[in-house]
Amino acid sequence: MSFLHTLAKISENPRLENEFLELLSLLEYVGCRKILKGVPVEKVSVDVLVHIQEESLHALMLRRLVDKPSGVPWSESLFAPMGWEYFRQLDKRVSTEVSPSYEAVSWAIEQRALSLYPDYFSLTTREDVKKVLSTIIAQEKRHAIHFAAAEATRWLEIEGELWAEFEARVAAIVQSL
Ligand SMILES: [Fe+2]
Ligand SMILES: [Fe+2]
Repeated sequence: MSFLHTLAKISENPRLENEFLELLSLLEYVGCRKILKGVPVEKVSVDVLVHIQEESLHALMLRRLVDKPSGVPWSESLFAPMGWEYFRQLDKRVSTEVSPSYEAVSWAIEQRALSLYPDYFSLTTREDVKKVLSTIIAQEKRHAIHFAAAEATRWLEIEGELWAEFEARVAAIVQSL
């Protein structure tokens, strides 16, 4: 089952879509936290502050689309464990190859967002979701940090492997419901 198929199934089911939006919010949040923790104080530029603010905004906008009381934690969310695992592994593996790792980790996730979000945009029927996704996509395009081709290929390779595992785990849950 391709992930587009999984995404289509998620988009057809309001309860699953709710859980998926919560997962995306979590990923934006951990991405934001990575920048906060990873950028040394003396390197915090205006661009870095803008990036932190926008990633935090992405997490908030997505979380507001989730139909759950605001106090419900991520630990109670269906896909959250997979999101944590994907991020934790990505961070760990990229960190063994480059230090500091925040730019490479952020960049790899942004590349993923730039393919996942347009796919999800084309499948969701929720207008409020489409509106938020358009805003996020425009900002992620602006964030793109450039790496030398060889490095970039390596980060994408690592991210691609972990994303494939993540997709398989999400697909297994969706199929089991
Ligand atoms: Fe983001
Ligand atoms: Fe970003």
